[in-house]
Amino acid sequence: MIINQDVEDYINKSVLCWLATVDEDNAPNVSPKEMFAYYNGTTVLIANIASPGSARNIRHNPRVCVSFVDVFVQKGYKLKGTARIVDNTDASYPDKVRFLTDLFTDKFPINEIFEITISKVEPIRAPSYLFFADTTESGQIESAMRRYRVESLRPTDG
Ligand SMILES: Cc1cc2nc3c(=O)[nH]c(=O)nc-3n(C[C@H](O)[C@H](O)[C@H](O)COP(=O)(O)O)c2cc1C
Repeated sequence: MIINQDVEDYINKSVLCWLATVDEDNAPNVSPKEMFAYYNGTTVLIANIASPGSARNIRHNPRVCVSFVDVFVQKGYKLKGTARIVDNTDASYPDKVRFLTDLFTDKFPINEIFEITISKVEPIRAPSYLFFADTTESGQIESAMRRYRVESLRPTDG
């Protein structure tokens, strides 16, 4: 299982992933995707709702990189692999669409699914974790909450 429990947890905790592809001139392209999910020990699924550039690139060159971080903990992963386009001609398309709509929403049409088989996993850590031995996850969460100006989620009286 190349995608271990910690990677799966970070996929679930990260609101967005960033999908990097390359075009026919090897120019890089990166765009955010919210509908992305752990599928099994080697596979991640991403919904193509509005990503014609990524789809075009994957058809030309299936090598991709997907990165994501929990912006509060400030840790995440970079996954490299090979994408396959699953469209409505594929027998697995209905099940995979349902898998994603059950996890997220069915209010967007899913044209296709990018099914990514992962071959390499690299952790991403904020530099504080590397340079300052006293860095803790709770400290990072607190400072990120301040930086992103996150107010308490507790409802106010009245
Ligand atoms: C917060 C956010 C979430 C998004 N989630 C998705 C998504 O799950 N799937 C998708 O296809 N596009 C999604 N998009 C839209 C694409 O990132 C956007 O259309 C982008 O320009 C596509 O570029 P591309 O065609 O080069 O992939 C999202 C955009 C934002 C800002």
